[in-house]
Amino acid sequence: MSENRLTITDERTGKQYQVQIQDGTIRANDLRQIKVSADDFGLMTYDPAYLNTASCRSSITYIDGDKGILRYRGYPIEQLAGTCTFLEVAYLLLNGELPNQEQLAAWETRVLRHTMLHETSKKFLENFRYDAHPMTMLISTLAAMSTVYPESKNIHDATNRQKQTIRLIAKMPTLSAYCYRHRLGLPYIYPDRDLSFTENFMNMMWRFMEPKYVANPILARALDVLFILHADHEQNCSTSTMRSVGSSQADPYLSMGAATAALSGPLHGGANEEVLRMLDHIGSKEAIPAFIKTVKDGHGKLMGFGHRVYKNFDPRAQIIKKTADEVFTVTGYNPKIEIARELERIALEDEYFIKRRLYPNVDFYSGIIYEAMGFRPDLFTVLFAIPRVVGWLAQWEEMVTDPEQKISRPRQIYTGYDERQFVPMEKRS
Ligand code: SDX
Repeated sequence: MSENRLTITDERTGKQYQVQIQDGTIRANDLRQIKVSADDFGLMTYDPAYLNTASCRSSITYIDGDKGILRYRGYPIEQLAGTCTFLEVAYLLLNGELPNQEQLAAWETRVLRHTMLHETSKKFLENFRYDAHPMTMLISTLAAMSTVYPESKNIHDATNRQKQTIRLIAKMPTLSAYCYRHRLGLPYIYPDRDLSFTENFMNMMWRFMEPKYVANPILARALDVLFILHADHEQNCSTSTMRSVGSSQADPYLSMGAATAALSGPLHGGANEEVLRMLDHIGSKEAIPAFIKTVKDGHGKLMGFGHRVYKNFDPRAQIIKKTADEVFTVTGYNPKIEIARELERIALEDEYFIKRRLYPNVDFYSGIIYEAMGFRPDLFTVLFAIPRVVGWLAQWEEMVTDPEQKISRPRQIYTGYDERQFVPMEKRS
């Protein structure tokens, strides 16, 4: 067989072209040579929603959708979730290697030193209505933090990028907890550096009158595992948004505000909140067949099911399912998991879902755990955003330092009018 080359025959002209194949792709720009005349723009690719388009080269996360494989920097997610802490995995995603004991200790100290929010950000939060959705508060306040750290606009300075990266990772739990406390009219709880990253988040969420918050170790570990599972997922909608907005050289706070907005959509990170609403709507196992029928009739989706990449199973969903049993030993059983398990069982036997290769994704079981732990549904996507900040920043750093990358600006197929003459007001019907 010949080398990695594609020979294309343009039947319109009879001409033949050769295009290099590299890494299983062809460069879309190599198609521009295929023209019907000298002034022809040349061929483009058309790929709405980028179903079959690679936008970048990345060494951060690898997914094999058919085999249900997810690896961060080459390490299987099952191994990382089974042994690491979230900050240890954050270090891996950002630096490419697992930290040794000394590096991890220095990394943890550095992150936990930056957990305080600037008072101006706290005051910014105060202007939201008491019942403002926490994701909207998070999106807006993240963008507003660009005014607190104006030096972050110097995105070409590696040291500056690292400083903002640490600030964002460290402050997300604080900001998230404050959004929750604002909803309940509760005073903010300041970070406690004696606690781990995840225990400190629980402290800022749930501490009341006690002098020192003590997290339940089983729940703290379960939340840490959930953070690990949500940390990165290659070029998903919100990460692509982080890369696209960042490609205009916007600062990381503004880029992250955009990425968090993308995550909030019900087809993406907002799905975990929608799954709980769906389970509440179904109400009982007996009501499942009727609900499944409405989905198959095209009235709504089975939230928490399906994935653009995973076509057999989402490895994260399998780990989350196991984590649920550990959480229930502390919180007591969440009966909704019975409805979820029966929903999964029925769906996996139903031709509609089998034919469309729809399986539980990361959002299907996570909300049941979050609810059992005491989180309200409107905070679930915030819990997705806290760890995904690490993936967004690792991907942003990779984009900023990638010599092949420049401002993201897709083309289009124009379907509008050809040139036409202006119609003055008096002649308009
Ligand atoms: C996340 O990309 C990532 O990596 C995302 C994520 C990450 O970590 O960043 O993994 C996190 O966002 C997980 C996905 C959470 N979203 C949901 O659970 C919402 C419900 N799922 C769907 O909306 C859907 O499955 C998507 C958005 C996840 C994927 O959509 P695709 O790949 O564009 O698939 P599609 O919409 O073209 O669906 C193909 C067919 C269609 O039917 P037909 O038109 O062929 O008859 O499957 C059907 C769809 O109607 N379908 C569903 C369905 N998902 C797809 N039918 C019922 N219920 C569903 N959930």
